[in-house]
Amino acid sequence: GIELGKLLSSTGYITYDPGFVNTGATSSAITYIDGDAGILRYRGYPIEQLAEHSNFIEVSYLLIYGELPTQTQLADFTERIERHTLLHEDLKRFFDGFPRDAHPMPVLSSAVSALSTFYQDSLNPFDEPSVELSTVRMLAKVPTLAAYAYKKSIGQPFLYPDNSLSLVENFLRMTFGLPAEPYEIDPDIAKALDLLFILHADHEQNCSTSTVRLVGSSEANLFASVSAGINALFGPLHGGANAAVLDMLEDIRADGGDVARFVTKVKNKEAGVRLMGFGHRVYKNYDPRAKIIKKTADEILGRLGKSDELLDIAKKLEETALSDDYFVQRKLYPNVDFYTGLIYRALGFPTEYFTVLFALGRLPGWIAHWREMMLDPARKIGRPRQVYTGAPEREYLEIEKR
Ligand code: ACO
Repeated sequence: GIELGKLLSSTGYITYDPGFVNTGATSSAITYIDGDAGILRYRGYPIEQLAEHSNFIEVSYLLIYGELPTQTQLADFTERIERHTLLHEDLKRFFDGFPRDAHPMPVLSSAVSALSTFYQDSLNPFDEPSVELSTVRMLAKVPTLAAYAYKKSIGQPFLYPDNSLSLVENFLRMTFGLPAEPYEIDPDIAKALDLLFILHADHEQNCSTSTVRLVGSSEANLFASVSAGINALFGPLHGGANAAVLDMLEDIRADGGDVARFVTKVKNKEAGVRLMGFGHRVYKNYDPRAKIIKKTADEILGRLGKSDELLDIAKKLEETALSDDYFVQRKLYPNVDFYTGLIYRALGFPTEYFTVLFALGRLPGWIAHWREMMLDPARKIGRPRQVYTGAPEREYLEIEKR
């Protein structure tokens, strides 16, 4: 209902594009997506090759610095990250202030925001050595913060990081280990989580990354910008979808496992029910990450010896949707979140923690975009326009006359 005439602002015509469906807000050399062909590449490397041959630290380096590291560069980067996994003891006390049943996403975003108060050298976003240090601190400390958010929620003591372990192994130990007991790392679990982190590491101008860029465009520091990105990721239409998928599968199971009935509900748009984990703003074809994850879900559940009724429901749901005109016509395919929740559950994570895992994987992407923007000579503060639809000019009325 917007009249074309109203698009004329005081400075001339503006583009009216709710949801930025067709607005390029920046140029970027980090990630390439072809949504029609189902292609995703980080710095030119196909996601399938990175998933098969690389690891999360190497992919983080690639996204942030633009090239795959040499052995020396990788060893140095890894060593720097491992050296910064500890939290300041005062920061640990923050967790005492949150309610025990707090959702871990706002806990995480608050803690990341608080990193600016502990590392005030981060406040100048143009000081190169400080940006390097903030980058490493972010990658190193956020997994520790995430593990503590979980420990707090189940009332268990925090574990200090063990820097003889890899980043992912360390995170698993801090999340599931206990102080008095040795924690044995299951290499299959560590590998699966590392893969999921690679697949989540960047996805160009999605809602959370655009948020990081928008906040950073005011020259806010890295911790403030990423904290805002974590909050954007929290919503069920974005990162929260992985948890919403699992809730949906549970509901279908509780309702007798009738997939066809659920699909009919979605098609009739009953009470706004959507098929969670389906559809994507950019992919109008199978999400290439979903393909890799579907295979991993089969493998990891098989290896852990877990037959999962919910996986069977998910597969049936996918089959039903992909052969249904409603989904075919709208080009709705499974996205990255459709199968991830099932894997996270098999690895032992509670549902409300799934989006935190997405955030851990997305960290290098947020960092890479923030850094790219800060060095961009065409950078401008983000400031969209609007089409005003409110009252025309009117006279102020004294309160007794209203
Ligand atoms: N289930 C049922 N119908 C859907 C779905 C879905 N999951 N997604 C889109 N549609 C329908 C819409 O109802 C609309 O139909 P209509 O034209 O008859 O009204 C049409 O498809 C187009 O949908 P839009 O909402 O306009 O598409 P948009 O690009 O704005 O939304 C989004 C993309 C938010 C991802 C959407 O597909 C969705 O809500 N999916 C479910 C949530 C989800 O899985 N989010 C994760 C995204 S991936 C990520 O963040 C990692």
